[in-house]
Amino acid sequence: MTIAPEITPAATTTDPESGIRITRVNGRIGAVISGVRLGGDLDPQTVTAIRDAIIAHKVVFFRGQDHLDEERHEAFGRLLGTPIAHPTVPSADGRYSLAIDSDHGARANQWHTDVTFVPAYPAFSILRAAVLPPYGGNTLWSNTAAAYAELPEPLRILADSLRAVHSNAYDYLAVRPEATSAALEQYHQVFTSTKFLTEHPVVRVHPESGERTLLLGNFVQRIADVPAQDSRLLIELFQRHIERPENTVRWQWQVGDVAIWDNRATQHYGVDDSDDHDRKLRRVTIDGDVPVGVDGRSSTLLHPSEVPAPAFGPASGASTAAAAPSAG
Ligand SMILES: [Fe+2]
Repeated sequence: MTIAPEITPAATTTDPESGIRITRVNGRIGAVISGVRLGGDLDPQTVTAIRDAIIAHKVVFFRGQDHLDEERHEAFGRLLGTPIAHPTVPSADGRYSLAIDSDHGARANQWHTDVTFVPAYPAFSILRAAVLPPYGGNTLWSNTAAAYAELPEPLRILADSLRAVHSNAYDYLAVRPEATSAALEQYHQVFTSTKFLTEHPVVRVHPESGERTLLLGNFVQRIADVPAQDSRLLIELFQRHIERPENTVRWQWQVGDVAIWDNRATQHYGVDDSDDHDRKLRRVTIDGDVPVGVDGRSSTLLHPSEVPAPAFGPASGASTAAAAPSAG
């Protein structure tokens, strides 16, 4: 049973159960949640209200969460699901908090959905700002359900029928001609230490809301069964709708901010305009399930034969595998 998210036209609403306030940022995506101190000890009503807000608004923002450290960040994450390690990038301290640091060459200035090169890619990402540059370094998110919904019907039907191959092994220098040797080293030695190929439906049926969302982004290599040139044009056609300003929100970070997004219904983009200033964020990622397309077909791993166990902890999808239908 899925429940389509409802958003009232009111700018601010107060959840009667938990008392938290939800203030919309833009018309189609984004809300600020106030009146809550994040941590592992939140009551169930508040957790439900936050989860519902994430599903409805796609990305939610919290100011002033300076009390969070790695452990509290992770403890809060456990209220939304099972924290998971990145399939190839080890965390600095062996916990689930992944460093997103400007000096590690981690400049995510490409529209993407996190970790779509594996079938059960994450459901939620929880990002916390620890050190910020004096200017720039904003993050943008796009609502991929709104992007699908605004397509003319013939294009929705076309998208419904397509599948796409995603991989973590893309032509890094083609998209990062300015890459430093450290960033290249990181890319080759760490990020692609295992090369994944996964085929996903281009339109995924959201497992909680039932909405249809476009599933593309930076890790897409090609549309399955379509020649390269047509593939590129099709990807661009749909990606353009995802990047339309009306479908996006842009967040100017302050230290202590937390952003949580539904990784199954969004893409995001880290703006690389802070020169060499430090920018350090911490990400805790919550496991997701295997996507299912409009035709009921699941995503499939093409390579390797199975997702290797991460360095520690469960693989993504572990907490939902028992409930999921067998992957086709
Ligand atoms: Fe990302």
